[in-house]
Parts: sequence; C-alpha cells; structure tokens
Amino acid sequence: GLISSTPMLEKARSEGFGIVAFNVHSLDMIYAVVEAADEVKAPVILQTTVGSVKSLGAENIVAAAEKASNQYNVPVALHLDHCTEYSVIVQCIRAGYTSVMIDASMHPFEENVRKTNQVMEIAKHLDINVEAELGKVGGVEDDIVVSDEDAQKAVPAECVEFIKRTKVPTLAPAIGTAHGIYKGEPDIDFIRIQEIAHLVEVPLVLHGGSAIPDEDVKRCVSLGMAKMNVSTELKNAYSAAIRNHFIETPEALDPRQYLSKAKNAAKDLAQSKITLVGCAGKA
Ligand code: 13P
Ligand code: ZN
Ligand code: NA
Repeated sequence: GLISSTPMLEKARSEGFGIVAFNVHSLDMIYAVVEAADEVKAPVILQTTVGSVKSLGAENIVAAAEKASNQYNVPVALHLDHCTEYSVIVQCIRAGYTSVMIDASMHPFEENVRKTNQVMEIAKHLDINVEAELGKVGGVEDDIVVSDEDAQKAVPAECVEFIKRTKVPTLAPAIGTAHGIYKGEPDIDFIRIQEIAHLVEVPLVLHGGSAIPDEDVKRCVSLGMAKMNVSTELKNAYSAAIRNHFIETPEALDPRQYLSKAKNAAKDLAQSKITLVGCAGKA
C-alpha cells in the first residue's frame, strides 16, 4: 500500500541520498515509475499537480498508485504537488494521498505560515507528509507561472522561523532552480543550500529537477536536498516516444504500440534519475 513519505525522506536526509518524486500525467506513467523503482530496488514518490487531479480524478490516481504499490515490493508514496487550494488538499487526503504540498510561496511570509498551519492542523492527526515552499521557484508548473524577475531565493533565517512556527516535516527552499528546461545552465546557490541545511534538520526538496547537470544534482543531494522533483524530463521522454512512433510509422494506430513505447521511455528516464540521486538499492 501507499505510505507517508516522511520516514523515507528523513532516512534519505540523514544518510545523504536522494529520493525522486516524479510528476505523473496518466495512469500508465504511474506504472512506468513504480516498475522503474522496483527494478533498481528504490523507494519512490509519485506526484500529481492539481491539473492532473482534475483531469484524471483523485480516486483513479489513488487506485492505480495503490495497486502498483501492492504489485511491486518497494516503498511508494503519493504526493499532491504545488497545491494552492485548501479544498483540493482535503479532497486528495480523503481520497488516499499520503503526502501534500501547500504552496503558499506567492504570499507574504505570515500568510504562508498561516496557510501551512491550516494544512498541518489536519495532517498532524494523520500519517501523511506535508511540504511547504519558501522563496519562489521560477518557471511554469501547471497554472503557477513565475517569471525570472519574480523568482526569489529562500532566506535561511526565515526557513528556521518557518519550521519553528509550522513544524512542517519537509521544506522546499527556492535556491536558484526553475521548473522546466533551462535556457542556459541553472545558477544553483550551493552556499545557500548549505546554510539552510545547517540550520534546519528536515529533509529539503529540490524543485525543477529536470535538466540540472548531473554533478549539480549530486551536490544538492549531498548538501541535504533529500527529495528531487522531476516533471518535464519524464513528460518529454514519454511524449517524444509517441512522436517518434508516428514519424516512423504514421499508419500504426494501435494505441498499445505507441503507449508501450512511451511507457518504456518513461521507465528508462525514471531509472536514470533514481540512480543519479544514489537511491538504487535503498528500498
Ligand atoms: P521540472 O519540470 O523542472 O522537472 O520541475 C518539477 C517540479 O519541481 C515539480 O514540482
Ligand atoms: Zn515544483
Ligand atoms: Na528544471
């Protein structure tokens, strides 16, 4: 069954490895990710944005994730990514999500604390993880659009204050990465990660995991980024396989053919990211 991501992330933080959280956009992507994790014996996090909850339905996502987690022998958590709406958080918790992100990073600090505490109020009685964000991660994720000028790094002292006042078990501090594929190379603030990790013990979350150079990913993980979110690269691998199928064989319209290619491409990408963060064999 699905489990909370808190214990697996705490273990990853204390042992210095990472766990990848993959954004899935269809039910077969859930299987691609869980099968990839099973093949390399790694714990894994499935996550969906609010957009995917709306397009697939929370119950369908939970049912497929639950089934996949029972079929394979690795720890699997199901997380709601970048949610700004309290009602959707409640809906997903009721449906069976084992982790939720309350993203109030677009609000001033006090409002972020208040909105996070509102979610902590329900979560603390349940065995589920909660993630909050400080600073603003640039780029586009679903309906959340943050321009380069508006992107803002997390302030270390605020991270301490935030954890003290919310007791949130997982924190995503913006440190220079962005959602999507970078124009150049990301300008990651390693000093800042180090400062924050030195001040707070909770597992930290690296957003915008796609297209970060491998060496930078490893450095982030070694500094305390215990969860790495990957969306764009998984989505691109999946869709490119379908595009290639239709370029090579435009007449082959049996969905089972192109969907199995897409699933395999997603699976390969997932395995390489899991291995990159040092998570293979940690299940
Ligand atoms: P990427 O799309 O850059 O992988 O970012 C993923 C993410 O942070 C999801 O929350
Ligand atoms: Zn993100
Ligand atoms: Na990115």
